[in-house]
Amino acid sequence: MNTMIIDKIQDVARDAGAIMISAKRPKIMEKSGHANFCTEIDEKIQAFLIEKLKEILPEANFLGEEDGQDVFTSKMESGFCFVLDPIDGTSNFIYSYRPSVVSIGLLLDGKPYIGVVYNPFDDMMFYAKKGEGAFLNDEKIMSSEFPLKDSLASFGTAPYYEELRDKSFEIAKKLLPLCVDLRRSGTAAWDMCCVAVGRCGLYFEMKVQLWDYAAAALIAMEAGCTLTDIEGKELSFKGATSCICRSRGVKEMPSCFE
Ligand code: IPD
Repeated sequence: MNTMIIDKIQDVARDAGAIMISAKRPKIMEKSGHANFCTEIDEKIQAFLIEKLKEILPEANFLGEEDGQDVFTSKMESGFCFVLDPIDGTSNFIYSYRPSVVSIGLLLDGKPYIGVVYNPFDDMMFYAKKGEGAFLNDEKIMSSEFPLKDSLASFGTAPYYEELRDKSFEIAKKLLPLCVDLRRSGTAAWDMCCVAVGRCGLYFEMKVQLWDYAAAALIAMEAGCTLTDIEGKELSFKGATSCICRSRGVKEMPSCFE
């Protein structure tokens, strides 16, 4: 694996982003769970990603939000596995509420190896390779050193899981007075990138899928963030999990998670 490969993955993400921004009035399909949508553009981008990424790494497995291969299997624990979210922020996309991003994670032997998250609306390309730092448009990034009380914080509402709603908002209510203010962007990958680049001090969500976090979690870790589940354990990179992403300045687990 050399730097050429990460460059090629970014080129694919950029082309996928171009499909996203040129799309008009896509057909919308519902999936299971509250307001869980997929559009024909999610499917089109996913097919495009698989075709192009296969050219880069023909031996890789694929796990993607929209292709039916949505369960992490033991087969994905060895060798390369691309984890794809063609449009993270599908509801944003449907309602033209920006941003939505293309998220491409690459696992090696079940561990995060490369992460690429592209926001085509602002031409912002986040990427990281394990042990080599995180970058935004080729500039190295580090998360903020501000304490939580001087930082924005964000959360995801875990919208598709009704049973997590009370807990999500209970934590959010306790978090608000501990920080400057709360944000909810509509894309988990973007939220983690915002912590990575120092816009935000913390992001949490009670349930995200592997394709939501595989790429962005590596970018955040390489930018000095601490990522755990709600119990303080390391993220599994094997499937759905709760997630807390803290910047360098948010050293302790805030009391809202107790
Ligand atoms: C969703 C977004 C949202 C988050 C959900 C995700 P999708 O992904 O990232 O911000 O709250 O948990 O599932 O469905 O738009 O790809």
